[in-house]
Amino acid sequence: MHKNKSHSKLNTLKSNVEKSLKQSIKNIDSNTHVRGESLYVDDINVREGTFHAVVFDSPIAHGKIKGIDYSKAESLEGVERIFTYKDILGDNQIGGIIPDEHLFAEDEVHFWGQPIALIVAKTELIARQARRLINIDIEELPVITTAKEAKEKGSFINAPRSFNLGNTEKAFNDCEYIFEGETFSNGQEQLYIEAQGSYAEPLENGNIKITSSTQGPTAVQKTAARVLGLPMHKIEVDVTRLGGGFGGKEDQATPWAVMAALATYHLKQSVKLILNRHDDLRMTGKRHPYESTYKIGLSKDLKILAYEVEFLQNSGAAADLSPAIAERTLFHATNSYFVKNVKSTVHSCKTNLPPNTAFRGFGGPQGMFVIESAIAKAASEIGVSARKIQEINLLKENDEFSYGQIAKHVEAQNSWYAATSIFFVEELEQEVESFNEKNTAFKKGLSLMPITFGISFTNTPMNHARALVHIYLDGSVGISTAAVEMGQGVNTKMLQIAAKVFSIDKSKVKIETTNTTRVANTSPSAASSTADLNGKALLKACNSLLDRLIIVASEDLNVSVESITLKYEFVYIDDKKTNLSWTELISKAMLNRVALTENAHYATPEIHFDKTKEKGHPFAYHVYGTAITIVTVDCTRGTYEFDAVKIVHDYGKSMSEGIDLGQAEGGLVQGMGWMTMEEIAYGSNGRLLSNTLSTYKVPDVFSVPKNIEILPLETSGNEMAILKSKAVGEPPLMYGIGAYFAIQNAIKAFNPNHQLKFHAPITPEKVLISLYEK
Ligand code: MTE
Ligand code: HPA
Ligand code: MOS
Repeated sequence: MHKNKSHSKLNTLKSNVEKSLKQSIKNIDSNTHVRGESLYVDDINVREGTFHAVVFDSPIAHGKIKGIDYSKAESLEGVERIFTYKDILGDNQIGGIIPDEHLFAEDEVHFWGQPIALIVAKTELIARQARRLINIDIEELPVITTAKEAKEKGSFINAPRSFNLGNTEKAFNDCEYIFEGETFSNGQEQLYIEAQGSYAEPLENGNIKITSSTQGPTAVQKTAARVLGLPMHKIEVDVTRLGGGFGGKEDQATPWAVMAALATYHLKQSVKLILNRHDDLRMTGKRHPYESTYKIGLSKDLKILAYEVEFLQNSGAAADLSPAIAERTLFHATNSYFVKNVKSTVHSCKTNLPPNTAFRGFGGPQGMFVIESAIAKAASEIGVSARKIQEINLLKENDEFSYGQIAKHVEAQNSWYAATSIFFVEELEQEVESFNEKNTAFKKGLSLMPITFGISFTNTPMNHARALVHIYLDGSVGISTAAVEMGQGVNTKMLQIAAKVFSIDKSKVKIETTNTTRVANTSPSAASSTADLNGKALLKACNSLLDRLIIVASEDLNVSVESITLKYEFVYIDDKKTNLSWTELISKAMLNRVALTENAHYATPEIHFDKTKEKGHPFAYHVYGTAITIVTVDCTRGTYEFDAVKIVHDYGKSMSEGIDLGQAEGGLVQGMGWMTMEEIAYGSNGRLLSNTLSTYKVPDVFSVPKNIEILPLETSGNEMAILKSKAVGEPPLMYGIGAYFAIQNAIKAFNPNHQLKFHAPITPEKVLISLYEK
């Protein structure tokens, strides 16, 4: 009886979700996407005579350049010129956080794939042929590929960082149980469908316009200006949209754009530089691999009393965003749990891999994987379900994070209990158990994965944005912000905001390209904060215009300002429709010489962080949720299939249900890929072995869970989020971590002797070995 009632609750919830999905706005790019009409860098019309460029890169991971012979390449018919660091008039420096990275190598190379020169030719094919004619003489130097080895040799990017709370040493004395262990999580290729690329064109007076597939137009502008030795106003950067970024274009879209601009500067002709997939895979950084050690202490009643963790981040050969990513690892080291005593340290280890960079989650997932491993280990050793330990330790209102922020509006328990009750976790566990009793060749495993993710750039000064709104005299609207559309649907959200404030049809609103001449000095579209930051600025700009228009209407209709509202493209007086339409109102405003353009600025209030104390309030709010993952392992082959992932996710009050569901599903599957099948491999000589799409496999329709159910948490939302609709870009990726532990649990059901290992991804090979280890 009770069960039936609850099942009907689940059905009601599901049909409510379906209803709101049907009513929710469609991504405004969907039509041009399916027709193949959406424009990417490679689709823009190029000037006649445009040159094409290919990067010449290091064929070894570490060495001293003794000599390079470009003569054969240069004399190939159709080759225009080859550029090296010697052609740089400004700084040969592209490091964002730390100035430690050359655009073109000078006398040393530090990773396989490091750019050395740019070959510019009439066609890309000729440039590629020329690349093969370059002879380079390099004296090889020792290569470091792992973080551990880097640490042993004292090779670091910067000083380590530590977040501490309470006193772990003392707390371990009070623990009933103490466990220690090691974990490894591998890198991950962003695998945006549109590879890195840019197109630079000369304008008059030595000005240059760059079209780039970048998440950070200002980063491109600033770095191009620095390398070319020009003021920033001479460089214009324009972005229509990206065919995916996933963090891989926050910093690492920059070098290709700067190279194209450098060649354009010298040749006074347009230059197009688009990496092919092979070059992109080899030359660009990925998610950071982490090697970590932990020590966890629990009380008799399974409270985590103390947690110590040391993260070794494999940063690659230069800093790139590694320091910021390392910081976010510390912010998320305790995931959704309250731990009173924490000692966490991260070392950014310098190796001879391509500089690793942002990838959805930005170091957070790497931190969370370790505490989930520690909990799994503790559960296995104590002989209880990991679910028990997870549940007992969930964050509560007013708990303190290791970084000093006090948790408010916490939804950790709410989402956990919603998921476990709505989806009947106990029943699911029983089903898994009885399946495992009846079957020997196949075993099922179930895991729970709660997530807590902080929203804001962890670097407080980056949390601001501006929006520029024009109302044209026919009543149509054009909007510019810093938001970069990369498939996440931010343009649709921007459009919704303007249409809502003005109460006009969405066909009246156009989202302009992201351009540094319209909106300047911007933070990249990242940290899941794009809609919040740009949306809040846009909301402000639209509201200012609305206030102005209401005055125009009140004067025209001779009534008080308070009585005026705008609804469905008409002016209303006290809820009574007038004949004054939106379009006529705009005409009247023009006649009255009222400004129909507004620019607004938004900076997230309340947030702050003191790096000298490693304490503060860095996040505007947190996003929560809980995933239940069920897998079936084929114990003869070591392969696995996911039966289901069932999630309750905290969207706040979603403003675009369809888009947000897409983000949650995409993030989940990307996280599962990281944990299970995507295997980056470098040789000990630093060569990328997984350098094609035949050796690097991401999830496809056959590997996604057979059933994905994502229900929204019932909540009132958060004022710091745009229209109370919480950021959704990154958090769902971390549900994918549950896949690792579900598989591990299935292995344990087959082989009780199996010693838990925390070495991701858990590929079928590793599963097979674990199934039969003695
Ligand atoms: N979704 C799609 N389709 N494509 C992307 O490149 N990037 C992710 C996420 N979702 C990405 C995506 C990453 S890494 C981030 S930080 C956010 O989107 C950025 O967009 P937002 O700030 O608007 O959420
Ligand atoms: N997230 C994503 N990108 C960033 C961040 C962050 O916290 N800080 C700097 N770049
Ligand atoms: Mo996302 S990793 O912050 O671009």
